[in-house]
This record gives sequence, C-alpha cells and structure tokens, in this order.
Amino acid sequence: MTNAKQAAGRRAAELVEDGMTVGLGTGSTVFFTLQRLAERIRDEGISLRGVPTSLDTESKAREFGIPLATLDEVERIALTIDGADEIDGDYQMIKGGGGALLREKVVATISDRVVTVVGRDKLVERLGTTFLLPVEVVPFARATVRRAIKALGGEPTVRLAEPERPFVTDNGNQILDCKFEGGIADARALAARLSTEPGVVEHGLFIDLATDVVIGDDTGTAELRSK
Ligand code: A5P
Repeated sequence: MTNAKQAAGRRAAELVEDGMTVGLGTGSTVFFTLQRLAERIRDEGISLRGVPTSLDTESKAREFGIPLATLDEVERIALTIDGADEIDGDYQMIKGGGGALLREKVVATISDRVVTVVGRDKLVERLGTTFLLPVEVVPFARATVRRAIKALGGEPTVRLAEPERPFVTDNGNQILDCKFEGGIADARALAARLSTEPGVVEHGLFIDLATDVVIGDDTGTAELRSK
C-alpha cells in the first residue's frame, strides 16, 4: 500500500511546472508529493508556492521547505494535488477521511486542474460502498443535522478523537461519518441536498472537481488518467 501511495504521490509532483501556484492536499499519499516537490525545489531549482489544505499539510510543507501562500494572496490555483477516500469512474469522490474536507474543497474549487492521487484500492463503482461519507457540522447543530441525515437514509456517527471526545476539525467543527446502506445511489443529488442543510459546513462529496487521477499500484508504478 505504501508503494502505491508513494508511486501516485511522486508521479503527480512531476506535473508541477516552474512558477506554479499549487494546492497542497492532505493525507498520507500527498505526503509523498510534498517530499518529491521538496526534492525538485532543491535539485531542479523550480520555484512554486503552495496553498495548504490543512494545518497538518502546512506544517509538513514548512518542514520540507516548500514556500507557502494563503488565499488572501492567491485568486486561482493552477494545479491542486490531493488524495481521496473513494473515486468513481466519473471522477466523483468521497473525501474527508483526514477531516480536511472543507479546506480541500475550497482549494479544489478555485483550481484549474485537480489531480487526485490514490492507490488502486480507492477506485469504486459506487461512492459510499467502502467508505463512510464525512459531513462537517457546526457543533451547535449536530443533533439537527444528524436527524436530517437519518431522514435521507444515512446512519451518522460522530467521529471521535478519543473515547468520549469528538474529533475537532481545523475549523473548530465536528464530523459526522455517514453510512449509506448499499452506497450512495445519487451522489450529485445528495451533495446538493446536504449543502442546503443549516449547520452543515461542508460534506465530503466532491462532485465535478477532479480533472485527473494518478493511480498507484503496489509494484510502485503509477498511471495518469485525465478526464
Ligand atoms: C483528508 O481529509 C482526505 O480527504 C484525504 O485526502 C484522504 O483521506 C486521503 O488520504 P490518504 O492519502 O492518507 O489515503
């Protein structure tokens, strides 16, 4: 599995061109992208500025010596490289396993190209079959959002950091991980519905955002597919 993540993460870093603004996703696959970008800065002398999608990525990028920018300084992003928890044949995704879905979606939305880096195990026919759908909620509205998700056929569970202590996102919110029996029948419709629910800050359905996918496999090779 590490081989697959490493192959995908490193391959995507080769798409970065000198002078680019790059969205830096979150997770263990993107870790290898950061590592490779640091090598390219050092060995090839490329310049870039990265926009991190989480505090975790921000601190890793700093350790790697990757120059960073904030959204105050950046209007559009040429290329974002990010992981996913599931991706289907239409490049629709579930993200948020690391809890960074809100910032990831903001960054993806202003990106010209969103390259998703995954191991082959993340490819699914139908979203929601192998992974729960994360929904970021304002703590005040947790109970009302839970009821709304149940009414939509989901089974929400509060993500915990420790027994009895909810996980808290970089934005001070909580996550409901939602199971949909048999998977999500209509991801686009569910995404639209969840976006209108008061108290939902963001959900992990990434619809029409990914433009490319780099699929790594355990032999250490990676394949780039574009929409
Ligand atoms: C973070 O919130 C997620 O969206 C990650 O991008 C996703 O969980 C992928 O993580 P890995 O690359 O660690 O599998």
